[in-house]
Amino acid sequence: MRIDIVTIFPEIARGPLSSSIMGRAVGSGHVQIHFHDLRDYTTDKHRQVDDTPYGGGPGMVMKPEPFFAAVADLRTEDSRVIFLTPQGVPFRQAKAATLSRCGHLIFLCGHYEGVDQRVIEALVDEEISIGDYVLTNGTLAAAVVVDAIVRLIPGVLGDDRSSEEESFSGDGKRLEFPQYTRPVEFAGMAVPALLLSGNHGVIAKWREEKGLERTSANRPDLLKEADRPPSIQGK
Ligand code: ADE
Repeated sequence: MRIDIVTIFPEIARGPLSSSIMGRAVGSGHVQIHFHDLRDYTTDKHRQVDDTPYGGGPGMVMKPEPFFAAVADLRTEDSRVIFLTPQGVPFRQAKAATLSRCGHLIFLCGHYEGVDQRVIEALVDEEISIGDYVLTNGTLAAAVVVDAIVRLIPGVLGDDRSSEEESFSGDGKRLEFPQYTRPVEFAGMAVPALLLSGNHGVIAKWREEKGLERTSANRPDLLKEADRPPSIQGK
């Protein structure tokens, strides 16, 4: 897979996508990630990427020309162009899985108050938001989305089961169960004895119950009505 990230702050994405598992995924050739400074696609002396909004109002709007030039330069036959914005469709694990099967992704990162709508209409295949909050620009959001996608490329995680068994994957929407490691007793707190029993049936049942308990407490919105505890049914 090839990924291009177009932003006025390439250094914001370069750090998180060059370290740890992402760095190794690049080193092993599972993915190529290229960072582009949007200002390199300007043609004026001041390398201007924004201007005042038509219709008035505070803030600045990102100009269309540099984005059009960047996409014209980077687009290939199988590119998908993604714009990061709080106005986008909420990002989910299922979308990460779909995008992990693409050959070429181009991420356009916004800044300031927004981007000229003609960029979205003419260039962008999908608009993605990473959550209901507003960041100073889309570059951090692009790094989050790229991390979630790249770790799903077969071979990137040492053990592919680790991405199959985690929260949000598969059909059941349940958060993961609690985990413990050595020591068996720490700060007066003991590891649940059944985890030491070697009884895989009992352990599997306990994990399912604990995952459901955690989901009810932290993410009741993930549960189907019938699976919800009576205290939150109908809410
Ligand atoms: N840019 C600013 N905030 C964002 C968000 N929540 N998701 C994606 N891009 C953004």
